[in-house]
Amino acid sequence: ETIVTGKVTWQSPSNIALVKYWGKKENQIPANPSISFTLNNCKTITSLEFTRKKDSEQKGDLFDFEFYFEGQKKEDFKPKIYTFFERIEEYCPYLLDYKLIINSENSFPHSSGIASSASGMSALALCVMSLEKQLFPNISEDYFYKKASFLARLGSGSACRSVQGKIVVWGEHANINGSSNLYGVDYPNKVHEVFENYQDTILLVDKGEKKVSSSVGHNLMHDHPFSEERFKQAHKNLATLKDIFKSGNLNDFIEIVESEALTLHAMMMSSKPYFILMKPNTLEIINKIWAFREATGLPVCFTLDAGANVHVLYPEKNKTEVFQFIEDKLLGYCEKNQFISDSIGLGSKKL
Ligand code: PMV
Repeated sequence: ETIVTGKVTWQSPSNIALVKYWGKKENQIPANPSISFTLNNCKTITSLEFTRKKDSEQKGDLFDFEFYFEGQKKEDFKPKIYTFFERIEEYCPYLLDYKLIINSENSFPHSSGIASSASGMSALALCVMSLEKQLFPNISEDYFYKKASFLARLGSGSACRSVQGKIVVWGEHANINGSSNLYGVDYPNKVHEVFENYQDTILLVDKGEKKVSSSVGHNLMHDHPFSEERFKQAHKNLATLKDIFKSGNLNDFIEIVESEALTLHAMMMSSKPYFILMKPNTLEIINKIWAFREATGLPVCFTLDAGANVHVLYPEKNKTEVFQFIEDKLLGYCEKNQFISDSIGLGSKKL
């Protein structure tokens, strides 16, 4: 039976990497494995309306779609989506038979400097899979989610870690069962209870547009003097993190997570061309976190993405004291005192 028309909607979260993905090979294959907490509140909701082209309409070589972001038609986002469709065409040839209308909105401010590509691309990939499921009802749930993550990866590497929760691994690693370069997998082992509902308060230090796109950044790892060591280190850090997830040793957790964040930025600072994405207030916040940890012994640490914003990570049971500290000492360093309260989440959801 041919599906003529329909509409599907997915919600998909952002994620924050603990061991970072920075550097890739052909076809969005990561140069090293990475692992992330799936977030709960930072998410994109995307709907896909599809109408089968009539036989008289041109079929077969052009993607026909409109894109709306928060209710407004957006032409400037279309090239990125077009590239995504081109990359997934061989896996989803049916897309060419449909006229598509994509509607997308974020739960966080678009200009917050929060990477919306992970939540956005995963939500769109899931919508495409829901269309596929209507065309091929027999596909299994396992296939559905693996392929959704596979497609999301082709949109934006880190997006493949947003399909599921709560902790996702992407990239082959000798000690992680089922890990793959092609899609993210749920972290397969039992995790110590201290990580349950782990908190991530995102401090919005700089809401400006990214000065360096992540694809440019990834490419700079090709001729980078430290890349081979870095890729080895990521494997090692992921192996150590596996032990930490079992033991619940937060001192060790903090050491790995902060080192990963600083190493990511160190790679940017030592590439050619070199660049600095941290701002003075990023460093102020890091120093304040260190001083607070020293003074109180509370297990709070930071991580960074490819930008100036700081993710403050801590266990749920320390929420009251840590949040008090954030409010008193850190929010002053944020643009207009802005922040997002988030925590580990379960992954995407069909609406
Ligand atoms: O998914 P991309 O290509 O935008 O890369 C993002 C990479 C980092 O956010 C900096 C690190 C990571 O692993 O998420």
